[in-house]
Amino acid sequence: MSNTTSVLRIDSSARGSASVSKQLTQYLVDQFAREEAIELLERDLGEQPLAPIAAAELVAVHGSADPVDKAAQKQLALSDTLVAELMAADVLVIGAPMYNFGVAATLKAWVDHICRARITFRYTDSGPQGLTNIEHGFIVVSTGGTRVGSSADFVSGYLRQILKFIGVRNVHVIHADGSKHSADEIVANARGQINTLLEARRENSAVEA
Ligand SMILES: Cc1cc2nc3c(=O)[nH]c(=O)nc-3n(C[C@H](O)[C@H](O)[C@H](O)COP(=O)(O)O)c2cc1C
Repeated sequence: MSNTTSVLRIDSSARGSASVSKQLTQYLVDQFAREEAIELLERDLGEQPLAPIAAAELVAVHGSADPVDKAAQKQLALSDTLVAELMAADVLVIGAPMYNFGVAATLKAWVDHICRARITFRYTDSGPQGLTNIEHGFIVVSTGGTRVGSSADFVSGYLRQILKFIGVRNVHVIHADGSKHSADEIVANARGQINTLLEARRENSAVEA
């Protein structure tokens, strides 16, 4: 068994270096790299957005059905790549800015590409079963003012559900919200949450060893 932790980092902010969520996904990756050998794969969906999937192609991708035409073949090939990245990951880090109470369209497109029947999930007699092998999923939710966890937050619950659905064993939501604070304060507060989560992970690993 490899001693290297495979980390998949997915960003989706359009704000480049000004992005709160990207500062925090970077911080998470840096903290992992300080403590253990990691193999990092980064996908910046803000820099390189995924095209939305047309409805007919979505049906083929979701059901892992044979592609019927060139467009579906292309989508399926992209989906295969994104799924391979996911299946290789031990840790998944997602930066999720809130846009109009939901996730960025490009992040939704990523979700639509990686939910694949019989590959990343399957239905069993006892209900859906996730097929990825990801130990920890970290979701950094950045907002302008909408409180993470409030009834207007359609980001954290949605992504938590998706990660659980595909079999991520421990899902953590980092709150980077609040219009009453400066971006620096929001980042500092969220870093504190990350430190606490990583400390708990260290303690659990020590108990299991
Ligand atoms: C198009 C757009 C829509 C937004 N919608 C919301 C929203 O519904 N609720 C909210 O609290 N903030 C909203 N914001 C603010 C962003 O969530 C906030 O700037 C956050 O820091 C973005 O994450 P980032 O810094 O990683 O880019 C919106 C920003 C943009 C550009």
